[in-house]
Order: sequence, then C-alpha cells, then structure tokens
Amino acid sequence: MKSLDFPLPDEAATLALGALLAQALPERAVIYLEGDLGAGKTTLVRGLLRTLGTDGAVKSPTYTLLEPHVVSGLNLYHFDFYRFNSPDEFLDAGLDEYFADAGICLVEWPARAQPYLPPCDLRIGLHVEGGGRRARIDAESERGEAWLNALAPPPASAAATSCASPAPG
Ligand SMILES: Nc1ncnc2c1ncn2[C@@H]1O[C@H](COP(=O)(O)OP(=O)(O)OP(=O)(O)O)[C@@H](O)[C@H]1O
Ligand SMILES: [Mg+2]
Repeated sequence: MKSLDFPLPDEAATLALGALLAQALPERAVIYLEGDLGAGKTTLVRGLLRTLGTDGAVKSPTYTLLEPHVVSGLNLYHFDFYRFNSPDEFLDAGLDEYFADAGICLVEWPARAQPYLPPCDLRIGLHVEGGGRRARIDAESERGEAWLNALAPPPASAAATSCASPAPG
C-alpha cells in the first residue's frame, strides 16, 4: 500500500502536513498517530482542525482522553491514550462507541488501547530528526489509500514511495 515520507523542519511544517491531510478527508476514518512524547502528534491534529475551520483552541487530550470537535459538518474525535495503565480502560470508559460512530478518530498512543481499537486507515509515525521532525504515513486500508491518492502532489522536498506499484521507468 501507499506510503509517504515528509521531512518537517519546523512546527509550521507539521501544521502544514495536518492541513494537507484535511484535503479529501473522508467522513469516516481511523488514524493512528505514533511517536514519542513531543513528536508532534497533537500539532499535526491542530493543523488539520484549523484548516477545517475550527475556531476554538485545539487542546491536547492527554488529560481528558478525548477532545471531540464538530467542524465542517464532520465529527472528529481526538484521543490520547498515553495515561492508560491498562488497555481495559478503553472499554471501561465506553470509548469503543466512538469508533462505531460515523466520524474521524485521530488516536495518539494507539498501542496503549490495543487490542481493542479497530484497524486504522492511516498510520502516521513522527520522530525527531535534527532540530525538526520526520513523518511517515502508511495507508492500511482501501479508504486510506484513496485518501493519500487524492492529496495534492506533496512538496518537492517530500519523497513518495509505493510498495504496491514500483516507480515507473
Ligand atoms: N516539525 C517540528 N519541528 C520542531 N518542533 C516541532 C515540530 N512539530 C511540532 N513541534 C513542537 O514539538 C512540541 C511537542 O509537540 P506535540 O505536543 O504536538 O507532541 P505530541 O506528539 O502530541 O506529544 P505527546 O505524546 O506528549 O502528546 C511542540 O512544542 C511543537 O511546537
Ligand atoms: Mg499530544
């Protein structure tokens, strides 16, 4: 499946990647956001939400587990499971209901709720590189693949690779 790789030299680049993903956003999707503390996961969600037109502050759900947003007629659920001591807390809090609903679920620290999360459409990994970050986005479903294919061509600095179709030539 398709994967994209983006160097993110500064915070503005992380916000811009979130804005890019807001293009062609499906009505329903699950996005895993992986990477260490401070990798830029919340920043990316902030860029996406601002582009969709959210007027309020985009708070990190680190302490609340969930920050819901309704914007551009879409339901977006931003989760952060960092503080889970056990994945069972996911079921205890009834959070599985949100994933059954039509909406966009953006999940920081998804591994801490496994095995209870549904599979993702996009897996986004962020890591520190130099003074900035690097992002890798993997499509893991047909819907995720269509989403990545619908994005405007990435900036010249971004390299695109695809496992499914070898580079032409
Ligand atoms: N590309 C970048 N280059 C440099 N700094 C960045 C970049 N992207 C985000 N940052 C900065 O990194 C810091 C942490 O970002 P953020 O809160 O988004 O991380 P996080 O992955 O959500 O962390 P946590 O796991 O603690 O929730 C912020 O100060 C943000 O401005
Ligand atoms: Mg965060």
